[in-house]
Amino acid sequence: MEKPWGGRFSEKTEGAVEGFTSSLSADIRLWKYDIQGSIAHVKMLGRQKIISRKDAETIIKGLEEIRAEIQAGKFEFHDSLEDVHMNIEHALIEKTGPVGGKLHTARSRNDQVALDLRLYLRDEISAILRLIAGLQKVIVESAEKYIDIIMPGYTHLQRAQPVLLAHHLLAYHEMLERDRERFEDCLRRVNVMPLGSAALAGTSLPVDREYVAGLLKFPAISENSIDAVSDRDFAIEFISVSGILMMHLSRLSEEIILWNSDEFGFVELPDAFTTGSSIMPQKKNPDVLELIRGRSGRVCGHLMAMLTVMKGLPLAYNRDMQEDKEPVFDTVDTLKSCLDILIMMFPRIRFKKTQMERAARGGFLTATDIAEYLVRKGMPFRDAHAVTGRIVKYCLDNNKTLDTIEPDELKGFSGLIDSDITEYITVENSVNAKKSFGGTASQLVRARIRDIKNRRKQGLKGEKPAVRKK
Ligand code: ARG
Repeated sequence: MEKPWGGRFSEKTEGAVEGFTSSLSADIRLWKYDIQGSIAHVKMLGRQKIISRKDAETIIKGLEEIRAEIQAGKFEFHDSLEDVHMNIEHALIEKTGPVGGKLHTARSRNDQVALDLRLYLRDEISAILRLIAGLQKVIVESAEKYIDIIMPGYTHLQRAQPVLLAHHLLAYHEMLERDRERFEDCLRRVNVMPLGSAALAGTSLPVDREYVAGLLKFPAISENSIDAVSDRDFAIEFISVSGILMMHLSRLSEEIILWNSDEFGFVELPDAFTTGSSIMPQKKNPDVLELIRGRSGRVCGHLMAMLTVMKGLPLAYNRDMQEDKEPVFDTVDTLKSCLDILIMMFPRIRFKKTQMERAARGGFLTATDIAEYLVRKGMPFRDAHAVTGRIVKYCLDNNKTLDTIEPDELKGFSGLIDSDITEYITVENSVNAKKSFGGTASQLVRARIRDIKNRRKQGLKGEKPAVRKK
């Protein structure tokens, strides 16, 4: 295949080199954006009289035909044409003759590929934002459905204090809210129009960059042509915020995997989302969740790959940057498929009230409540901590728990302890006493659920104002 840049070469490109340098197998995904960008560019060339209006129309018509051919699966791509950009341009020239050769006026593949990747990511980030909101929705629905379940909250994976399952689930809602903010913020830096930077220096032709930006709905244009063609920060940032999101999905998955074990027995997973073992007939494995956990490692790896590709590059464009495609595309695919499957699966996870509550009782999870009882009666917290510690030790030595120890036995540990102490050490009261803002008290958790749902109804984001009035 004749190369568009073949003019200064006297030797044919080695076949192996064509294969080695081609990025078509990856960047073929950008075809739609490449055509969209080219049409905007050529409209501007015609408007600025850099090419005739008639030629601009011929080129646009040709590009639209190519778009229809690709859509219909009738377009033939050639690996020897290096990438999606040259495939489309080559086809245009075949279709329109020399007129097609005017498309690339005042443009380079360097600013072209930057534009295409930005258009692509802009679309994908919008789709990802919708999926995150979808996952938040099913999490809140489960929180609401299981609002009356009390479970042990953990630190160090040791039972710590009783909390509402809903409060625990809503912690993931908060994480996802921050993810949404990060993607929205990342979008601002993706949404910058690089075209008109040409190879690196800009162009001597009278282009109108604002006009192109307007056509493509970019709120900003790049300020520096050298930066515009050598910048992949927006892609790195996208993978980075994706890595954080995947880390969250991985933690959620890990938690459900643990809860699904016989040792915990807190959840029952839907059969349709689990798999069996080829040897052990009794097994029902949480593979979907394990794969989400595993795939978070992939995205994290893509971030390292991109940072490593970029870190030693002198300005401006270098071919190394072609290596950005696979990490970005695989990140998009991984994120979307993980979010999709979690949205389907989450509403079908059954949380087991009896098992969760059994784990929350019958131990020492309300020990802190005893200490706080003593604090309310005037004892310094450190002393209260020590007294409560002695109570726990006494229980352990005498095979009792805070549920079974008698008020009279408790009174022996401090003159400040009255019979009313028993009210403070039930798990229900312990939960409902945590009324500090953001705490697990049922009334606060219910209010937060209402708040999230109202905000969603009003199309507002779930986040709260930074400063809150009482
Ligand atoms: N396929 C290349 C990439 O993905 C774009 C082409 C720029 N190539 C060049 N030789 N200037 O980065």
